[in-house]
Amino acid sequence: MKILAFAASNSRKSINKDLIRYASTLLPDSDVDIIDINDYEMPIYNADLEEAHGIPESASRFLDKIAAVDALLISYAEHNGNYTVAYKNLFDWASRKNREVYQGKPIVMLSTSPGAGGARSVLSLAVESAHFFAGKVMASLSVPEFFKNFDQDKGVLTNQDMVRELEETLSTLQEV
Ligand SMILES: Cc1cc2nc3c(=O)[nH]c(=O)nc-3n(C[C@H](O)[C@H](O)[C@H](O)COP(=O)(O)O)c2cc1C
Repeated sequence: MKILAFAASNSRKSINKDLIRYASTLLPDSDVDIIDINDYEMPIYNADLEEAHGIPESASRFLDKIAAVDALLISYAEHNGNYTVAYKNLFDWASRKNREVYQGKPIVMLSTSPGAGGARSVLSLAVESAHFFAGKVMASLSVPEFFKNFDQDKGVLTNQDMVRELEETLSTLQEV
């Protein structure tokens, strides 16, 4: 199975990207393509810009990446209870090309943050709105207190209960 995976963050040190990299090691039978949303950077969405110049080709490249896989694995960073500006911008431009951004793909949605909330607000926003964008959420999991539960040198989750929860969450992709 081909899976497209990314962190919905443009931070070079993204902890959600650390989580994505680790989660992909728990999917040994899948072909996981991890992308960096920095490679799809666009100007801040502006209706006037769209009218004058159309939709940047990065939006199409992002949509093509989604079209090419069987499933998605996304980990959402939370800024003030919401998506990062970088991801929202990418998503908004992509939605102007195709409102069904997730293109009917099964998705496992994750999130993490240093705090006890584990970016749960943005995760629930993503889960609850996915169907508007043709996303089929199979399961979701928030990992709280990232720095307590993850060894960044080794790139692994150290909390064994969370490892099991993550394995269960990811196993829903095997049903696809
Ligand atoms: C502007 C801003 C707002 C933030 N708001 C939240 C928040 O609402 N909830 C939260 O758990 N963490 C929040 N944080 C902390 C982020 O979770 C933390 O920076 C985390 O590393 C972001 O994920 P990333 O490393 O994958 O980009 C915020 C950080 C910034 C810079």
